[in-house]
Amino acid sequence: MRPLLRWAGSKKQLIGHLRPYWEASLAQRYVEPFAGSAALFFDIEPKAALLGDVNSLLVEFYTALRDTPDRIFQLTSSWAINKEKYYEIRASLIVEKDPILRSAMFFYLNRNCFNGIFRTNMRGEFNVPFAATKTGAMPDISEIKQAALLLKNTKIEKKDFREILKKVKADDFVFLDPPYAVENRRIFVQYNAQTFGLADLEELSDTLHCIDALGAKFVMSYAISAEALHYFDYWNVRRVTCQRNVAGFSSHRRKAVELIVSNMEKASP
Ligand SMILES: C[S@@+](CC[C@H](N)C(=O)[O-])C[C@H]1O[C@@H](n2cnc3c(N)ncnc32)[C@H](O)[C@@H]1O
Repeated sequence: MRPLLRWAGSKKQLIGHLRPYWEASLAQRYVEPFAGSAALFFDIEPKAALLGDVNSLLVEFYTALRDTPDRIFQLTSSWAINKEKYYEIRASLIVEKDPILRSAMFFYLNRNCFNGIFRTNMRGEFNVPFAATKTGAMPDISEIKQAALLLKNTKIEKKDFREILKKVKADDFVFLDPPYAVENRRIFVQYNAQTFGLADLEELSDTLHCIDALGAKFVMSYAISAEALHYFDYWNVRRVTCQRNVAGFSSHRRKAVELIVSNMEKASP
């Protein structure tokens, strides 16, 4: 199925390259420590999975979706999709105390915000503007229920990638899609909220050796860059092209090279 959320940096376009690795791995469980919209997870629909992300609203949303899909649908479908309603919900998000209502608000904002970007200001307030272009209707109840069913066999944790990766076992398949560490330097200056920098990339690179030593399989995608070639050269590295938005603007698309790094041989579609 397709992912329910829109997410900047989603690897939707790479699914055709990534899925064959999962199929070839014959793994029992799917692990994704940088989940975001979890496009690959929703595409392959694994029977058992562990998802993690540091974004607390995102993790809260998946949990609410899994446990109360009808309520999430009922709430989101009762809200008009227009600028006034969007800004009213945006202003209420930070003061809302009920996790289910807050998750429905997060879902609505995600589907109607500019380019699926998640960004907060210094006070932690979500500050992405309303999308000027139509992003399409909210997912219908059947899609929401299908996602909830898939999430039933999934553990979802608000944790740093290091904590999630400690739980990896021999029969796991791990898909890693970290943020681009260098780009984050700019985001840090702008928004004072860095969650993944070059030191983290170095630690992640060390952890890949632990995953491999366990006998688990991993696949990682990362923008081609000097640091990626330096850290990941030890593994099987493929270059694939994809479209990337420049500075978050879908109108400024350019072809970019993405690296697929794995401890498996190249898996053919
Ligand atoms: C490129 S996005 C992943 C996109 C995802 N593959 C998809 O299909 O939408 C990176 C994600 O990593 C999360 N993240 C950032 N720093 C993290 C950290 N230290 N530990 C775990 N997750 C982190 C972000 O919140 C974001 O959702």
